Amino acid sequence: MNTSQLVINDQEFHLIRTLVSQRFGINLTDQKRSLVVGRLQKLLKDQGFTSFKDYYQAVVRDNSGAALDKLINRISTNYTYFNREQAHFDFFVHSVLPPLTSHLRSCNKQDLRIWSAGCSSGEEPYMLAMLMMDYLGEEYGGWSAGVLATDISDQALSRARLGLYDEEKIGRLAGPLRTRYFQRQTDGNWQAKEQLKSQVTFRRFNLMNRHFPFKRPLQVIFCRNVMIYFDAPTRDALVQRYHQSLEPGGYLFLGHSETLGREQSAFKYIMPAVYRRQ
Ligand SMILES: C[S@@+](CC[C@H](N)C(=O)[O-])C[C@H]1O[C@@H](n2cnc3c(N)ncnc32)[C@H](O)[C@@H]1O
Repeated sequence: MNTSQLVINDQEFHLIRTLVSQRFGINLTDQKRSLVVGRLQKLLKDQGFTSFKDYYQAVVRDNSGAALDKLINRISTNYTYFNREQAHFDFFVHSVLPPLTSHLRSCNKQDLRIWSAGCSSGEEPYMLAMLMMDYLGEEYGGWSAGVLATDISDQALSRARLGLYDEEKIGRLAGPLRTRYFQRQTDGNWQAKEQLKSQVTFRRFNLMNRHFPFKRPLQVIFCRNVMIYFDAPTRDALVQRYHQSLEPGGYLFLGHSETLGREQSAFKYIMPAVYRRQ
């Protein structure tokens, strides 16, 4: 077995960085160079490539897109956990759902349209679905609700659809939610019950797509800890598309390091990393 470290030269790094930026918006800065080597090394070796240039050429030549899928599975950072930035979930339950659902009831449109964009392995959309189900209780069945959850990584989406989490991952989830919506397995892992899984629709979707395929505007978008990997023009263009996809008064939740600048006046600041469409 060849255990030697592959080396990436400036030109090769530039090619891969440009490809990843153009296709996925992810900005691989110079500081990410060793991360790129670390994440792609095994893939190259398994496929018999001895240089990043040969690998790059094979990826761009592959019209099926499969090689690009493998690349993004390796390059994307899928780190996430239940209850991440808990203040957002508290705000969702206590300040978003009550006025939104009572307004919808009053106009007889019991229809909630929530999107987790960059959902990774499912912790965020499952959180949102559990909170909605808990909040609406027995009334939930009469609503058209649920969460649309999208990501670019099909590997992350497969984990999300399986909904299987180990003790350490599930440990961040409050006991009552855990026992109500997850089933403990004999090996100690926990799996989302069908009742929960059926409320989250997982789809592969690239946030770089110019067109967002929504027939009706959304009320809430969670896109947290995704745009930190994008450069400023890509972030601004995406925020613009979120604005077009939200109904007036709809909420945009970002990660804590992804605040909108003052120039984004189409959104009103509500609390750290939470904005409302004007
Ligand atoms: C760090 S995770 C964030 C997960 C979750 N939102 C959270 O805050 O914990 C970032 C996710 O964004 C996804 N992502 C990155 N670029 C994307 C793109 N262009 N389109 C869709 N998803 C993308 C990655 O695959 C990854 O799963």
